[in-house]
Amino acid sequence: MAIHRVSRRNFLKTSALSVGAASLLTEHPLRAAADQTTAPAAQPAGLPAPPPITAKTFASISATLDGISKATMEAHYRLYQGYVNKTNEIRQKLATADPTKGNQTYSDIRELKVELTFAVGGVKNHETYFGHLGGKGGKPAGALLTAIEKHFGSYDAWAADLKGTGLAARGWVWLAYDRDDGRLYNYLGDAQNTFPVWNAVPVLALDTYEHAYYLDYQTDRGKYIDAFMRNIDWGVVAANLEKAMK
Ligand SMILES: [Fe+2]
Repeated sequence: MAIHRVSRRNFLKTSALSVGAASLLTEHPLRAAADQTTAPAAQPAGLPAPPPITAKTFASISATLDGISKATMEAHYRLYQGYVNKTNEIRQKLATADPTKGNQTYSDIRELKVELTFAVGGVKNHETYFGHLGGKGGKPAGALLTAIEKHFGSYDAWAADLKGTGLAARGWVWLAYDRDDGRLYNYLGDAQNTFPVWNAVPVLALDTYEHAYYLDYQTDRGKYIDAFMRNIDWGVVAANLEKAMK
């Protein structure tokens, strides 16, 4: 067994050092080559895995929405559950990934860390999305409407920009509050993990992946975005903004 050979080699090295003969064991080229081929893998240092996360429940999944079918919402929720599970799986694997083997072309730690951002993005994006569906749509009110009007000119201008961004995106649109300049922006994402802007907090998320609408609208994403707008719970978005501004 490898462990036995390693222990024996370490024992021989230790013994040789004790009699001043270490160079005889380590400097012979054939012995050095043999050491390389039988060297044990470095023990992974790893990081402790955070506690596992669990899928949240959302009233929007079982609600009757205007223009977004229950079948779409239920299938969509199962995708979200998959992101939760993969987040936990990747975090567990990272706990045993060997950081000394990091390589930018391919390495376990690289692949795990890249895909972790996709999985975590899938969790966070969908929690925002499911969280503010199930409302009556229309226009927001109060501080949220004031902020939209201030930063986009008018609600209609904001809504037009959101829809246009949604038609241009391959994954997501986020209405985000940028804590650095205190303004709202419609940001575009092509995947769960692109393109985040640091210190900008999404307060509204529009999923533009085809799984969000193909069952109901096939390729007519514009009609789906219109339906999305009819089902926004503005109270949730306002609460998201209030939290982001703290
Ligand atoms: Fe989605």
